[in-house]
Amino acid sequence: MKLVSAKDLMSGMKVAKDVENDAGGILIKEGTSLNKYMIDKIKALFIDYVYVHSDEKPAKTQEKKLREDIKKFSDQYNLAFEMTVKLLDTQKKGKILDMDLVRSISTIVMEQIYQTNNILGRLFSQDNDHMYLYKHSLNVAILSGIIGKWLGLTKNEVRRLVYSGLLHDIGKLQVPQSILNKPGKLTDEEFFEIQKHCLFGYQTLKSKHNISGDVFTAIAQHHEREDGSGYPKGLMGSQIHIFAKILAVADVYDAMTSNKVYRRKFSPFFVAEQIAQNSYGILDTKISRVFLDNIATFYVGNKVALSDGMVGEIIYIKPSEPTKPVVKVEDQYIDLTFENVTIEDILA
Ligand SMILES: [Fe+2]
Repeated sequence: MKLVSAKDLMSGMKVAKDVENDAGGILIKEGTSLNKYMIDKIKALFIDYVYVHSDEKPAKTQEKKLREDIKKFSDQYNLAFEMTVKLLDTQKKGKILDMDLVRSISTIVMEQIYQTNNILGRLFSQDNDHMYLYKHSLNVAILSGIIGKWLGLTKNEVRRLVYSGLLHDIGKLQVPQSILNKPGKLTDEEFFEIQKHCLFGYQTLKSKHNISGDVFTAIAQHHEREDGSGYPKGLMGSQIHIFAKILAVADVYDAMTSNKVYRRKFSPFFVAEQIAQNSYGILDTKISRVFLDNIATFYVGNKVALSDGMVGEIIYIKPSEPTKPVVKVEDQYIDLTFENVTIEDILA
């Protein structure tokens, strides 16, 4: 532990003793990694010195490590994506599902889930309109696994969740492309055709392959909703498997934050608001809460476009207001809780 003058504080240094304000209230808790926003706050309050852990690596080393992590993560993602294309194309041509490939992709995804934390925001900022089903399958595998980890499921359960995510829409390979990509409103008959993908997926996996029962149950139920408004069976609450409830949140999030052939993607912060609004009655309350509490941290450090046309960087996300972070625009810090400005898009 060492005492550092406020002017020498750097992002990434870890606070070794609570930083208190004049009134004795805790401003920054021990163990917190400092960021630019916090350092400016310390200076603004005329706090002269802060105790930090002395073994912290300099910020530059940490930045280099972050860049290496992002590169490794995106290399792994691209490899898993190529394998997912092969997996679904082979299945589409009527051949048997390649379980070796399912296992290999899942191993890569498991590594990503357990070894990387806050760099997924970069991944999900990529444009997804080309080959949507492939990217969506992989993204839902990653997101579902992460939610499972956040919920405290065992590694074996998380692995089965990853399988479920990867294969959740496999039944769509049997639905005509013209219906899947139709711009505008679907007719009742077309919607009925799309609904069949849950059952098609269930049958594909149940009849041909040695896959755990909770995987094909999750696939059959991933469009069921808590209040019975989902499909194909209109199941309610406790009738729905926990894997299917997790898939539902991951599916909604990835589908809405992706470009589709017929519409532009929505901002992750807008989608988070939608999930919050649906977290009573439509989506599982606890799973939505855990997801929203954690997902926001993905986006610290990301560049964002704001609704007033400015571009900024997400500096800090308050646990109580995960959809309204503090954004740095040029030299100004903008707290979106108090401004009539929203995040329109994640840029990088
Ligand atoms: Fe689906």
